[in-house]
Amino acid sequence: MDDEGLNVARALEETIQREAAEAEAANPPDVPPDSWVRKNIKTYPHAEKLQLPRPAPAPMSVGDVLSSRRSCRNFSGEAVQLTALASALGAALLTRGDALSRPYPSAGARWAVETYVIARNVEGLAEGAYHYDPANHLLALVNASISAESLAQCFRVQEFGPLPQAVAVATATFTRSWARYGARGSRFAYQEAGAAFMALDLASTAGGLDTVWLGGFDDVVLSHILGLDWSRDTETPVLGLGIGRAVSE
Ligand SMILES: Cc1cc2nc3c(=O)[nH]c(=O)nc-3n(C[C@H](O)[C@H](O)[C@H](O)COP(=O)(O)O)c2cc1C
Repeated sequence: MDDEGLNVARALEETIQREAAEAEAANPPDVPPDSWVRKNIKTYPHAEKLQLPRPAPAPMSVGDVLSSRRSCRNFSGEAVQLTALASALGAALLTRGDALSRPYPSAGARWAVETYVIARNVEGLAEGAYHYDPANHLLALVNASISAESLAQCFRVQEFGPLPQAVAVATATFTRSWARYGARGSRFAYQEAGAAFMALDLASTAGGLDTVWLGGFDDVVLSHILGLDWSRDTETPVLGLGIGRAVSE
């Protein structure tokens, strides 16, 4: 981030901290401010939606999943099935019950992380970038025209051949965490992204998919691919997870 960006971020953080302190002072301690309890889920009311198939239970034990997980860097050109991807998303991220809890934890239940899926080669899913709605298990199309050049540019630091068939991206909406925790909220948002994507990694592995964590990407290009508009969306991409199938040995 350049100096101007840092100054904007610092000014925003100061405002949020001040507002959080004011909200805390204005409320008795046993009544959390509304901004703390709001259920943070982004929706795209006007986007084209795809209802995903119900998640299928994975046949592997937790021990087997953990012992088989490893980073894959030799993805094949073979398409992965939408059902497998949908099962992993549902198992790892889908909300539960009225309280909208999720399979992974979130500091203060701020749910600061949003998940997107860039589909390159998924049978039953047109190429494009999608936002995953964890309350309704559906994908909303956010960018239908992703060029191979922009993907190559985005992940140019990666040292493997073909990109994975799909890339899930976690974005952090820091303002959700800052509203409750001030500056400390930043680390909680990153931690939540790790928790959510470990769940997604293990659920994908359990469904027979191959994965690799992707911390190396171009922030600006990836934000563009995800259709994020920084004048409207207060999100930053923080982590990628390549999901696909390796070439068979
Ligand atoms: C936060 C994080 C970011 C990572 N980023 C990348 C990456 O950009 N590219 C990559 O090939 N592997 C990446 N990895 C994978 C590590 O290189 C890998 O986990 C490590 O070498 C151990 O190998 P294993 O996963 O096969 O056990 C990342 C792992 C983590 C936890």
